[in-house]
Amino acid sequence: MKLIETPSWQALAAHAAAMQPQHLRQLFAADPDRFRHFSIRHDGLLLDFSKQRVNAETLRLLHAVAQAADIDGWKQKMLAGETINHTEKRAVRHMALRAGEQAPAEVKAVLERMQRFCESVHSGQKRGFSGERITDVVNIGIGGSDLGPRMATEALAAHQQPNIAVHFIANVDGADIAPLLARLNPRTTLFIVASKTFTTQETLTNAQTARTWLLAASGKESSIAEHFVAISTNLELTQAFGIAPDNVFEFWNWVGGRFSLWSAIGLSLALAIGWQQFAKLLAGAHAMDQHFINAPASNNLPLTLALLSLWNIDFLGASTAAMLPYSQSLALLPAYLQQLEMESNGKQTDRDGDPLKLASCPILWGEAGTNGQHSFYQLLHQGGRIIPCDFIALREADFPLPGHHVALLANCLAQSAALAFGQTADEVQAAGVPEALAPYKVFPGNQPSTTLVMPALTPYTLGQLLALYEHKVFCLGVLWNINSFDQWGVELGKQLATQLTPLLEGEADTTAFDSSTQGLIAALRH
Ligand code: F6P
Repeated sequence: MKLIETPSWQALAAHAAAMQPQHLRQLFAADPDRFRHFSIRHDGLLLDFSKQRVNAETLRLLHAVAQAADIDGWKQKMLAGETINHTEKRAVRHMALRAGEQAPAEVKAVLERMQRFCESVHSGQKRGFSGERITDVVNIGIGGSDLGPRMATEALAAHQQPNIAVHFIANVDGADIAPLLARLNPRTTLFIVASKTFTTQETLTNAQTARTWLLAASGKESSIAEHFVAISTNLELTQAFGIAPDNVFEFWNWVGGRFSLWSAIGLSLALAIGWQQFAKLLAGAHAMDQHFINAPASNNLPLTLALLSLWNIDFLGASTAAMLPYSQSLALLPAYLQQLEMESNGKQTDRDGDPLKLASCPILWGEAGTNGQHSFYQLLHQGGRIIPCDFIALREADFPLPGHHVALLANCLAQSAALAFGQTADEVQAAGVPEALAPYKVFPGNQPSTTLVMPALTPYTLGQLLALYEHKVFCLGVLWNINSFDQWGVELGKQLATQLTPLLEGEADTTAFDSSTQGLIAALRH
Protein backbone atom coordinates (compact mmCIF):
# COMPACT_ATOMS: atom_id res chain seq x y z
CA MET A 1 0.00 0.00 0.00
CA LYS A 2 1.36 3.43 -0.93
CA LEU A 3 1.72 5.91 1.92
CA ILE A 4 -0.93 8.21 0.48
CA GLU A 5 -3.46 5.37 0.69
CA THR A 6 -2.87 4.77 4.40
CA PRO A 7 -5.35 5.98 7.03
CA SER A 8 -2.63 8.12 8.61
CA TRP A 9 -2.06 10.05 5.38
CA GLN A 10 -5.77 10.47 4.86
CA ALA A 11 -6.26 11.70 8.42
CA LEU A 12 -3.53 14.27 7.80
CA ALA A 13 -5.18 15.36 4.54
CA ALA A 14 -8.48 15.91 6.35
CA HIS A 15 -6.70 17.86 9.06
CA ALA A 16 -4.93 19.98 6.41
CA ALA A 17 -8.28 21.06 5.01
CA ALA A 18 -9.14 22.40 8.47
CA MET A 19 -5.75 24.07 8.92
CA GLN A 20 -5.56 25.76 5.50
CA PRO A 21 -7.69 28.80 6.41
CA GLN A 22 -5.99 29.32 9.78
CA HIS A 23 -3.62 32.26 10.01
CA LEU A 24 -0.44 32.27 12.05
CA ARG A 25 -1.91 35.25 13.87
CA GLN A 26 -4.71 33.00 15.10
CA LEU A 27 -2.36 30.17 15.99
CA PHE A 28 -0.19 32.50 18.08
CA ALA A 29 -3.23 34.10 19.70
CA ALA A 30 -4.59 30.68 20.64
CA ASP A 31 -1.39 29.60 22.39
CA PRO A 32 0.64 32.25 24.23
CA ASP A 33 3.32 29.65 24.86
CA ARG A 34 3.58 28.67 21.23
CA PHE A 35 7.34 29.29 20.98
CA ARG A 36 8.01 26.81 23.80
CA HIS A 37 5.60 24.25 22.41
CA PHE A 38 7.04 24.39 18.89
CA SER A 39 10.77 24.60 19.37
CA ILE A 40 13.53 22.08 20.04
CA ARG A 41 16.86 22.67 21.76
CA HIS A 42 19.69 20.27 21.23
CA ASP A 43 23.46 20.44 21.73
CA GLY A 44 23.61 24.24 21.48
CA LEU A 45 21.14 24.47 18.59
CA LEU A 46 17.65 25.93 18.78
CA LEU A 47 15.06 25.09 16.14
CA ASP A 48 12.07 27.42 16.35
CA PHE A 49 9.25 26.14 14.16
CA SER A 50 6.47 28.00 15.92
CA LYS A 51 6.04 30.12 12.76
CA GLN A 52 5.10 27.03 10.76
CA ARG A 53 1.39 26.59 10.08
CA VAL A 54 0.98 23.63 12.42
CA ASN A 55 -0.65 22.86 15.71
CA ALA A 56 -0.19 19.98 18.14
CA GLU A 57 -2.60 17.82 16.15
CA THR A 58 -0.65 18.46 12.94
CA LEU A 59 2.50 17.20 14.59
CA ARG A 60 0.76 14.15 16.03
CA LEU A 61 -0.57 13.24 12.59
CA LEU A 62 2.76 13.93 10.87
CA HIS A 63 4.51 11.62 13.29
CA ALA A 64 1.91 8.95 12.58
CA VAL A 65 2.73 9.29 8.86
CA ALA A 66 6.45 8.98 9.67
CA GLN A 67 5.68 5.76 11.50
CA ALA A 68 3.59 4.44 8.66
CA ALA A 69 6.49 5.17 6.27
CA ASP A 70 8.78 3.23 8.65
CA ILE A 71 11.48 5.87 8.90
CA ASP A 72 13.03 3.99 11.81
CA GLY A 73 13.16 0.79 9.78
CA TRP A 74 14.88 2.57 6.86
CA LYS A 75 17.32 4.19 9.26
CA GLN A 76 18.27 0.73 10.51
CA LYS A 77 18.69 -0.51 6.93
CA MET A 78 21.03 2.39 6.18
CA LEU A 79 23.01 1.75 9.36
CA ALA A 80 23.25 -1.97 8.64
CA GLY A 81 24.82 -1.22 5.23
CA GLU A 82 21.95 -2.62 3.18
CA THR A 83 21.92 -1.61 -0.49
CA ILE A 84 19.24 1.03 -0.04
CA ASN A 85 20.54 2.78 -3.17
CA HIS A 86 18.90 -0.05 -5.08
CA THR A 87 19.22 1.35 -8.61
CA GLU A 88 23.00 1.56 -8.27
CA LYS A 89 23.21 -1.49 -5.97
CA ARG A 90 25.07 0.46 -3.31
CA ALA A 91 24.95 0.93 0.42
CA VAL A 92 24.70 4.44 1.86
CA ARG A 93 27.33 4.81 4.53
CA HIS A 94 28.50 8.40 4.64
CA MET A 95 27.92 8.38 8.40
CA ALA A 96 30.81 5.88 8.68
CA LEU A 97 33.18 8.58 7.39
CA ARG A 98 32.72 10.65 10.53
CA ALA A 99 32.26 7.91 13.08
CA GLY A 100 35.54 8.62 14.93
CA GLU A 101 36.81 5.58 16.77
CA GLN A 102 33.94 3.50 15.34
CA ALA A 103 34.92 4.29 11.73
CA PRO A 104 35.96 1.33 9.54
CA ALA A 105 39.72 0.69 9.28
CA GLU A 106 39.81 1.76 5.60
CA VAL A 107 38.28 5.13 6.53
CA LYS A 108 40.73 5.68 9.37
CA ALA A 109 43.65 4.81 7.10
CA VAL A 110 42.66 7.45 4.53
CA LEU A 111 42.00 10.04 7.25
CA GLU A 112 45.48 9.40 8.66
CA ARG A 113 47.03 9.86 5.21
CA MET A 114 45.05 13.07 4.75
CA GLN A 115 46.27 14.36 8.11
CA ARG A 116 49.91 13.60 7.29
CA PHE A 117 49.50 15.26 3.92
CA CYS A 118 47.93 18.40 5.42
CA GLU A 119 50.61 18.64 8.05
CA SER A 120 53.36 18.26 5.46
CA VAL A 121 51.87 21.09 3.38
CA HIS A 122 51.33 23.36 6.39
CA SER A 123 54.78 22.74 7.83
CA GLY A 124 56.42 23.42 4.48
CA GLN A 125 57.89 19.93 4.34
CA LYS A 126 55.99 19.28 1.11
CA ARG A 127 57.60 21.30 -1.65
CA GLY A 128 57.04 21.94 -5.33
CA PHE A 129 59.36 21.04 -8.23
CA SER A 130 61.64 24.03 -7.59
CA GLY A 131 61.94 23.32 -3.87
CA GLU A 132 59.60 26.14 -2.86
CA ARG A 133 56.76 25.85 -0.31
CA ILE A 134 53.18 25.30 -1.47
CA THR A 135 51.25 28.55 -1.10
CA ASP A 136 48.14 27.83 -3.21
CA VAL A 137 45.89 24.83 -3.52
CA VAL A 138 43.41 24.45 -6.38
CA ASN A 139 40.56 21.98 -6.00
CA ILE A 140 39.34 20.89 -9.42
CA GLY A 141 35.96 19.18 -9.17
CA ILE A 142 32.28 19.78 -9.76
CA GLY A 143 28.96 19.02 -8.03
CA GLY A 144 29.59 17.01 -4.89
CA SER A 145 33.33 17.16 -5.54
CA ASP A 146 33.23 20.95 -5.34
CA LEU A 147 30.21 22.40 -3.56
CA GLY A 148 30.87 20.92 -0.12
CA PRO A 149 34.52 21.89 0.33
CA ARG A 150 33.98 25.21 -1.46
CA MET A 151 31.02 26.18 0.72
CA ALA A 152 32.68 24.99 3.94
CA THR A 153 35.98 26.73 3.15
CA GLU A 154 34.09 29.99 2.72
CA ALA A 155 31.91 29.31 5.77
CA LEU A 156 34.95 28.73 7.95
CA ALA A 157 37.02 31.64 6.65
CA ALA A 158 37.46 32.80 10.25
CA HIS A 159 39.42 29.57 10.83
CA GLN A 160 41.61 29.86 7.73
CA GLN A 161 45.25 28.72 8.11
CA PRO A 162 47.84 31.40 7.44
CA ASN A 163 50.17 31.25 4.42
CA ILE A 164 47.96 29.10 2.25
CA ALA A 165 45.12 30.01 -0.11
CA VAL A 166 42.64 27.44 -1.37
CA HIS A 167 40.82 27.99 -4.67
CA PHE A 168 38.02 26.09 -6.39
CA ILE A 169 37.55 25.47 -10.10
CA ALA A 170 34.43 23.70 -11.35
CA ASN A 171 33.07 25.06 -14.61
CA VAL A 172 34.34 23.71 -17.92
CA ASP A 173 34.14 27.30 -19.14
CA GLY A 174 37.75 28.44 -19.54
CA ALA A 175 36.69 31.66 -17.85
CA ASP A 176 36.80 29.75 -14.56
CA ILE A 177 40.35 28.40 -14.66
CA ALA A 178 42.16 30.86 -16.95
CA PRO A 179 42.06 33.96 -14.72
CA LEU A 180 43.11 31.88 -11.72
CA LEU A 181 46.10 30.31 -13.46
CA ALA A 182 47.10 33.75 -14.67
CA ARG A 183 47.69 34.89 -11.12
CA LEU A 184 49.17 31.68 -9.65
CA ASN A 185 52.78 30.59 -9.54
CA PRO A 186 53.23 27.02 -10.91
CA ARG A 187 56.21 26.46 -8.60
CA THR A 188 54.06 26.90 -5.48
CA THR A 189 50.65 25.57 -6.61
CA LEU A 190 49.19 22.20 -5.71
CA PHE A 191 46.25 20.75 -7.66
CA ILE A 192 43.68 18.41 -6.17
CA VAL A 193 41.71 16.63 -8.87
CA ALA A 194 38.53 15.61 -7.06
CA SER A 195 36.18 13.29 -8.88
CA LYS A 196 34.35 10.28 -7.51
CA THR A 197 34.12 8.64 -10.94
CA PHE A 198 37.12 10.33 -12.58
CA THR A 199 35.08 10.43 -15.78
CA THR A 200 33.49 13.87 -15.39
CA GLN A 201 34.11 15.93 -18.51
CA GLU A 202 34.40 19.29 -16.76
CA THR A 203 36.89 18.08 -14.18
CA LEU A 204 39.08 16.17 -16.60
CA THR A 205 39.18 19.10 -19.03
CA ASN A 206 40.23 21.50 -16.27
CA ALA A 207 42.75 19.00 -14.89
CA GLN A 208 44.28 18.58 -18.35
CA THR A 209 44.63 22.38 -18.69
CA ALA A 210 46.26 22.60 -15.27
CA ARG A 211 48.64 19.77 -16.20
CA THR A 212 49.69 21.51 -19.42
CA TRP A 213 50.20 24.79 -17.52
CA LEU A 214 52.39 23.10 -14.94
CA LEU A 215 54.46 21.20 -17.52
CA ALA A 216 55.01 24.38 -19.52
CA ALA A 217 56.64 25.90 -16.43
CA SER A 218 58.51 22.89 -15.06
CA GLY A 219 59.50 21.20 -18.30
CA LYS A 220 59.55 17.84 -16.54
CA GLU A 221 56.97 15.05 -16.22
CA SER A 222 58.15 14.32 -12.68
CA SER A 223 56.63 17.63 -11.54
CA ILE A 224 53.15 16.09 -11.96
CA ALA A 225 53.82 13.84 -8.97
CA GLU A 226 54.90 16.85 -6.90
CA HIS A 227 51.96 19.08 -7.81
CA PHE A 228 48.96 16.81 -8.42
CA VAL A 229 46.95 14.68 -6.06
CA ALA A 230 43.66 12.97 -6.88
CA ILE A 231 40.64 12.06 -4.84
CA SER A 232 38.53 9.32 -6.34
CA THR A 233 36.93 5.93 -6.04
CA ASN A 234 38.41 4.98 -9.42
CA LEU A 235 42.07 4.14 -8.90
CA GLU A 236 42.53 2.79 -12.43
CA LEU A 237 41.51 6.04 -14.08
CA THR A 238 43.57 8.21 -11.71
CA GLN A 239 46.62 6.16 -12.66
CA ALA A 240 45.76 6.42 -16.35
CA PHE A 241 45.70 10.22 -15.91
CA GLY A 242 49.27 10.00 -14.64
CA ILE A 243 48.71 10.39 -10.91
CA ALA A 244 50.85 8.01 -8.91
CA PRO A 245 48.96 5.70 -6.48
CA ASP A 246 50.78 7.36 -3.56
CA ASN A 247 49.13 10.64 -4.54
CA VAL A 248 45.60 9.27 -4.61
CA PHE A 249 43.26 9.61 -1.66
CA GLU A 250 40.60 6.99 -1.99
CA PHE A 251 36.94 6.92 -1.12
CA TRP A 252 34.27 4.40 -1.83
CA ASN A 253 31.17 3.94 -3.96
CA TRP A 254 29.02 3.83 -0.81
CA VAL A 255 29.64 7.56 -0.46
CA GLY A 256 27.31 9.61 -2.66
CA GLY A 257 28.95 12.62 -4.33
CA ARG A 258 26.70 15.10 -2.51
CA PHE A 259 27.43 13.35 0.81
CA SER A 260 31.19 13.25 0.29
CA LEU A 261 32.50 16.33 2.12
CA TRP A 262 33.40 14.01 5.01
CA SER A 263 35.58 11.79 2.83
CA ALA A 264 38.89 12.62 1.16
CA ILE A 265 36.84 15.12 -0.87
CA GLY A 266 37.26 17.31 2.22
CA LEU A 267 41.04 17.51 1.66
CA SER A 268 40.94 21.04 0.22
CA LEU A 269 38.91 22.17 3.23
CA ALA A 270 41.32 20.45 5.63
CA LEU A 271 44.19 22.27 3.91
CA ALA A 272 42.32 25.55 4.32
CA ILE A 273 41.41 25.23 7.99
CA GLY A 274 43.92 22.71 9.32
CA TRP A 275 43.50 19.14 10.39
CA GLN A 276 42.34 19.77 13.95
CA GLN A 277 39.50 21.97 12.69
CA PHE A 278 38.53 19.45 10.01
CA ALA A 279 38.34 16.79 12.73
CA LYS A 280 35.91 19.05 14.63
CA LEU A 281 33.69 19.29 11.54
CA LEU A 282 33.53 15.48 11.46
CA ALA A 283 32.79 15.43 15.19
CA GLY A 284 29.89 17.87 14.77
CA ALA A 285 28.38 15.78 12.00
CA HIS A 286 28.87 12.61 14.04
CA ALA A 287 27.10 14.20 17.00
CA MET A 288 24.15 15.03 14.72
CA ASP A 289 24.17 11.42 13.45
CA GLN A 290 23.88 10.18 17.01
CA HIS A 291 21.03 12.58 17.67
CA PHE A 292 19.24 11.50 14.48
CA ILE A 293 19.64 7.83 15.33
CA ASN A 294 18.75 8.03 19.01
CA ALA A 295 16.54 11.04 19.74
CA PRO A 296 12.83 10.38 20.14
CA ALA A 297 10.74 11.42 17.16
CA SER A 298 9.17 14.42 18.88
CA ASN A 299 12.60 15.85 19.65
CA ASN A 300 14.40 14.78 16.51
CA LEU A 301 15.70 17.77 14.55
CA PRO A 302 16.16 16.19 11.09
CA LEU A 303 12.85 14.36 11.29
CA THR A 304 11.09 17.56 12.35
CA LEU A 305 12.53 19.51 9.41
CA ALA A 306 11.49 16.72 7.05
CA LEU A 307 7.95 16.50 8.38
CA LEU A 308 7.49 20.27 8.17
CA SER A 309 8.71 20.16 4.60
CA LEU A 310 6.31 17.32 3.76
CA TRP A 311 3.49 19.28 5.34
CA ASN A 312 4.25 22.44 3.39
CA ILE A 313 4.71 20.68 0.07
CA ASP A 314 2.11 17.94 0.05
CA PHE A 315 -0.57 19.46 2.25
CA LEU A 316 -0.25 23.25 2.02
CA GLY A 317 0.79 23.30 -1.65
CA ALA A 318 4.27 24.85 -1.54
CA SER A 319 6.36 24.09 -4.61
CA THR A 320 9.46 26.05 -3.67
CA ALA A 321 11.42 26.68 -0.48
CA ALA A 322 13.83 29.46 0.43
CA MET A 323 17.04 29.00 2.37
CA LEU A 324 18.00 32.25 4.07
CA PRO A 325 21.17 32.14 6.16
CA TYR A 326 21.76 35.43 7.96
CA SER A 327 25.47 34.89 7.62
CA GLN A 328 27.61 36.05 4.74
CA SER A 329 29.94 33.17 5.50
CA LEU A 330 27.09 30.77 4.66
CA ALA A 331 26.38 32.48 1.33
CA LEU A 332 27.11 29.26 -0.58
CA LEU A 333 24.87 27.15 1.64
CA PRO A 334 21.82 27.52 -0.65
CA ALA A 335 23.86 26.25 -3.63
CA TYR A 336 25.16 23.34 -1.57
CA LEU A 337 21.68 22.45 -0.37
CA GLN A 338 20.30 22.72 -3.89
CA GLN A 339 22.42 19.76 -4.90
CA LEU A 340 21.84 17.91 -1.65
CA GLU A 341 18.07 18.25 -1.77
CA MET A 342 17.21 18.50 -5.45
CA GLU A 343 19.64 15.90 -6.80
CA SER A 344 18.54 13.56 -4.01
CA ASN A 345 14.80 14.03 -4.01
CA GLY A 346 13.91 15.74 -7.29
CA LYS A 347 12.33 12.55 -8.58
CA GLN A 348 8.96 11.31 -9.72
CA THR A 349 9.44 7.54 -9.75
CA ASP A 350 9.09 5.67 -6.48
CA ARG A 351 11.09 2.73 -5.20
CA ASP A 352 8.65 0.31 -6.81
CA GLY A 353 9.18 1.90 -10.23
CA ASP A 354 5.75 3.54 -10.12
CA PRO A 355 5.03 7.19 -10.88
CA LEU A 356 4.81 9.22 -7.70
CA LYS A 357 1.30 10.46 -7.06
CA LEU A 358 2.36 13.47 -5.02
CA ALA A 359 4.79 16.37 -5.21
CA SER A 360 8.34 15.63 -4.10
CA CYS A 361 11.31 17.96 -3.66
CA PRO A 362 10.51 21.67 -3.85
CA ILE A 363 12.62 24.05 -5.92
CA LEU A 364 15.17 25.18 -3.41
CA TRP A 365 16.77 28.59 -3.67
CA GLY A 366 18.03 31.34 -1.45
CA GLU A 367 20.64 33.85 -0.58
CA ALA A 368 22.41 35.22 2.45
CA GLY A 369 20.54 37.82 4.45
CA THR A 370 20.32 40.73 4.41
CA ASN A 371 21.16 40.91 0.68
CA GLY A 372 18.07 38.98 -0.43
CA GLN A 373 15.86 41.51 1.35
CA HIS A 374 16.82 44.03 -1.30
CA SER A 375 15.93 41.78 -4.23
CA PHE A 376 13.45 38.92 -3.97
CA TYR A 377 11.86 39.31 -0.53
CA GLN A 378 9.21 41.51 -2.13
CA LEU A 379 7.80 38.33 -3.67
CA LEU A 380 8.00 36.47 -0.37
CA HIS A 381 5.91 39.17 1.28
CA GLN A 382 3.40 40.08 -1.38
CA GLY A 383 3.83 37.68 -4.32
CA GLY A 384 0.84 35.56 -3.34
CA ARG A 385 2.67 32.23 -3.20
CA ILE A 386 3.36 30.04 -0.22
CA ILE A 387 7.14 29.84 0.10
CA PRO A 388 8.38 28.23 3.30
CA CYS A 389 11.62 29.82 4.51
CA ASP A 390 14.48 28.45 6.59
CA PHE A 391 16.23 31.24 8.46
CA ILE A 392 19.61 30.62 10.06
CA ALA A 393 20.91 32.99 12.74
CA LEU A 394 24.24 32.90 14.59
CA ARG A 395 24.30 34.13 18.18
CA GLU A 396 28.00 35.10 17.92
CA ALA A 397 29.46 36.77 14.85
CA ASP A 398 32.39 35.05 13.17
CA PHE A 399 33.78 38.47 12.17
CA PRO A 400 32.65 40.78 15.00
CA LEU A 401 32.57 44.47 14.17
CA PRO A 402 30.76 47.16 16.14
CA GLY A 403 27.09 47.43 15.14
CA HIS A 404 27.12 44.79 12.40
CA HIS A 405 25.89 41.65 14.05
CA VAL A 406 23.03 43.19 15.97
CA ALA A 407 21.77 44.79 12.73
CA LEU A 408 22.01 41.44 10.97
CA LEU A 409 20.04 39.65 13.69
CA ALA A 410 17.43 42.39 13.93
CA ASN A 411 16.78 42.02 10.21
CA CYS A 412 16.52 38.26 10.47
CA LEU A 413 13.90 38.45 13.22
CA ALA A 414 12.08 41.30 11.48
CA GLN A 415 11.68 39.27 8.33
CA SER A 416 10.36 36.10 9.91
CA ALA A 417 7.89 38.16 11.96
CA ALA A 418 6.73 40.20 8.96
CA LEU A 419 6.34 37.06 6.87
CA ALA A 420 4.33 35.34 9.56
CA PHE A 421 2.06 38.13 10.74
CA GLY A 422 1.99 40.55 7.83
CA GLN A 423 0.16 43.85 8.06
CA THR A 424 -3.63 44.00 7.88
CA ALA A 425 -5.78 46.57 6.11
CA ASP A 426 -6.88 47.87 9.52
CA GLU A 427 -3.30 48.38 10.60
CA VAL A 428 -2.52 50.18 7.36
CA GLN A 429 -5.52 52.43 7.84
CA ALA A 430 -4.63 53.10 11.49
CA ALA A 431 -1.17 54.18 10.34
CA GLY A 432 -2.87 56.91 8.30
CA VAL A 433 -1.96 55.59 4.86
CA PRO A 434 -3.99 57.32 2.13
CA GLU A 435 -6.85 55.11 0.92
CA ALA A 436 -5.54 54.80 -2.65
CA LEU A 437 -2.23 53.45 -1.40
CA ALA A 438 -3.63 51.21 1.32
CA PRO A 439 -4.07 47.99 -0.74
CA TYR A 440 -0.40 48.11 -1.72
CA LYS A 441 0.68 48.31 1.90
CA VAL A 442 -1.18 45.22 3.03
CA PHE A 443 1.03 42.20 3.79
CA PRO A 444 -1.02 39.00 3.93
CA GLY A 445 1.50 37.21 6.18
CA ASN A 446 0.97 33.53 7.02
CA GLN A 447 4.21 32.67 5.25
CA PRO A 448 5.64 29.69 7.16
CA SER A 449 9.22 29.76 8.39
CA THR A 450 11.63 27.96 10.65
CA THR A 451 14.54 29.66 12.39
CA LEU A 452 17.62 27.69 13.33
CA VAL A 453 19.77 29.46 15.90
CA MET A 454 23.38 28.32 16.08
CA PRO A 455 25.68 29.49 18.88
CA ALA A 456 28.40 30.44 16.36
CA LEU A 457 29.72 29.27 13.03
CA THR A 458 32.51 26.83 13.88
CA PRO A 459 33.70 23.60 12.29
CA TYR A 460 31.67 21.66 14.87
CA THR A 461 28.41 23.57 14.34
CA LEU A 462 28.84 23.51 10.55
CA GLY A 463 29.19 19.73 10.80
CA GLN A 464 25.98 19.62 12.84
CA LEU A 465 24.17 21.84 10.36
CA LEU A 466 25.12 19.88 7.24
CA ALA A 467 24.37 16.51 8.79
CA LEU A 468 21.01 17.92 9.95
CA TYR A 469 20.05 18.65 6.34
CA GLU A 470 21.49 15.36 5.08
CA HIS A 471 19.21 13.45 7.43
CA LYS A 472 16.26 15.66 6.57
CA VAL A 473 16.80 14.65 2.93
CA PHE A 474 16.97 10.99 3.95
CA CYS A 475 13.68 11.21 5.88
CA LEU A 476 11.92 12.93 2.98
CA GLY A 477 13.17 10.24 0.61
CA VAL A 478 11.61 7.61 2.85
CA LEU A 479 8.35 9.55 3.14
CA TRP A 480 8.13 9.93 -0.64
CA ASN A 481 9.36 6.34 -1.12
CA ILE A 482 12.08 7.44 -3.50
CA ASN A 483 15.74 6.52 -3.74
CA SER A 484 17.52 9.68 -2.59
CA PHE A 485 20.93 8.33 -3.53
CA ASP A 486 20.93 7.95 -7.32
CA GLN A 487 20.83 10.76 -9.92
CA TRP A 488 19.79 9.29 -13.25
CA GLY A 489 18.32 12.62 -14.25
CA VAL A 490 21.75 14.07 -14.97
CA GLU A 491 22.77 11.33 -17.40
CA LEU A 492 20.86 12.22 -20.57
CA GLY A 493 22.40 15.67 -20.83
CA LYS A 494 25.89 14.19 -20.36
CA GLN A 495 25.30 11.69 -23.20
CA LEU A 496 23.98 14.35 -25.53
CA ALA A 497 26.90 16.66 -24.75
CA THR A 498 29.28 13.84 -25.71
CA GLN A 499 27.46 13.42 -29.04
CA LEU A 500 27.35 17.16 -29.68
CA THR A 501 31.01 17.93 -28.99
CA PRO A 502 32.31 16.58 -32.35
CA LEU A 503 29.42 18.24 -34.16
CA LEU A 504 30.35 21.62 -32.74
CA GLU A 505 34.01 20.99 -33.56
CA GLY A 506 33.54 20.08 -37.21
CA GLU A 507 31.30 19.75 -40.18
CA ALA A 508 29.82 16.35 -39.24
CA ASP A 509 26.24 15.58 -40.17
CA THR A 510 23.82 17.07 -37.66
CA THR A 511 20.57 15.80 -39.15
CA ALA A 512 20.02 13.30 -36.33
CA PHE A 513 19.12 16.30 -34.18
CA ASP A 514 15.96 18.40 -34.15
CA SER A 515 15.80 21.62 -36.18
CA SER A 516 16.39 23.83 -33.15
CA THR A 517 19.58 22.01 -32.14
CA GLN A 518 20.75 21.92 -35.78
CA GLY A 519 20.15 25.65 -36.09
CA LEU A 520 22.06 26.36 -32.90
CA ILE A 521 24.98 24.16 -33.98
CA ALA A 522 25.17 26.08 -37.24
CA ALA A 523 25.15 29.36 -35.35
CA LEU A 524 27.81 28.31 -32.85
CA ARG A 525 30.32 26.22 -34.72
CA HIS A 526 33.33 27.80 -36.37
O1 F6P B 1 26.31 15.55 -12.38
C1 F6P B 1 26.04 14.64 -11.40
C2 F6P B 1 27.21 14.20 -10.62
O2 F6P B 1 27.40 12.85 -10.83
C3 F6P B 1 27.03 14.51 -9.15
O3 F6P B 1 26.22 13.61 -8.53
C4 F6P B 1 28.44 14.53 -8.67
O4 F6P B 1 28.54 15.13 -7.44
C5 F6P B 1 29.09 15.29 -9.79
O5 F6P B 1 28.42 14.86 -10.95
C6 F6P B 1 30.56 15.09 -9.93
O6 F6P B 1 30.90 13.75 -10.15
P1 F6P B 1 32.35 13.21 -9.94
O7 F6P B 1 32.73 13.44 -8.52
O8 F6P B 1 32.29 11.76 -10.28
O9 F6P B 1 33.27 13.96 -10.86
